Amino acid sequence: MKIYVVYYSMYGHIHRMAQAVAAGANEVRGAEVIVRRVPETLSPEILKEMKALDAQGEFSNIPLCTVGELESADAVIFGTPTRFGNMCGQMRQFLDATGQLWIKGALVGKVGSVFTSSNTQHGGQETTIISFYFTLLHQGMIIAGLPYAFQGQMRTDEITGCSPYGASTIAGAQGERMPSENELAGARFQGRHVATIASKLVR
Ligand SMILES: Cc1cc2nc3c(=O)[nH]c(=O)nc-3n(C[C@H](O)[C@H](O)[C@H](O)COP(=O)(O)O)c2cc1C
Repeated sequence: MKIYVVYYSMYGHIHRMAQAVAAGANEVRGAEVIVRRVPETLSPEILKEMKALDAQGEFSNIPLCTVGELESADAVIFGTPTRFGNMCGQMRQFLDATGQLWIKGALVGKVGSVFTSSNTQHGGQETTIISFYFTLLHQGMIIAGLPYAFQGQMRTDEITGCSPYGASTIAGAQGERMPSENELAGARFQGRHVATIASKLVR
């Protein structure tokens, strides 16, 4: 059973969440977890201006995803930062290259799931995840979110990401806040949840 974690991260928040998602998926017996980044589309000059180069250097060792390898997946868990309440352009570009998979119905029946991050608490996490679902549904994927069985999303004693739609983290106005223990627990739960569903479908 192959579980892909496919993400884009500019400053490391989604990268950190992706590691937690992968760790959760790895807890499920029979899971082979494959972590991939989607290709960058911005120029080095723009990335330098956005002060992203140092952060991205820390996870440049994660291999880039090819569209074709998703054919072998049993589940794909996508991670994207919010861009104006939507997925980032890098992820959009990657998904827009999956037309050949769509023609073949290659992703039909696989589990699809999404996690995200935003700078602000109400800055579009839910819209980012839900609008991502449109693409997954067109591809025929079976959507899995983050059930309330992950009770960390009920918390009101601290500011936290995560919702029934998927795990999330709040990065802070300057990106100064890295994922909290509760948000990482949500990400692990989502990884485990998706891999558990995929293992039942594979059987
Ligand atoms: C062009 C652009 C648009 C963004 N739009 C939003 C937004 O709508 N809401 C928000 O809270 N944060 C927004 N952000 C902040 C990013 O979501 C934040 O930097 C990201 O979640 C951090 O994750 P990363 O470190 O994995 O890249 C935006 C950032 C950029 C560069």
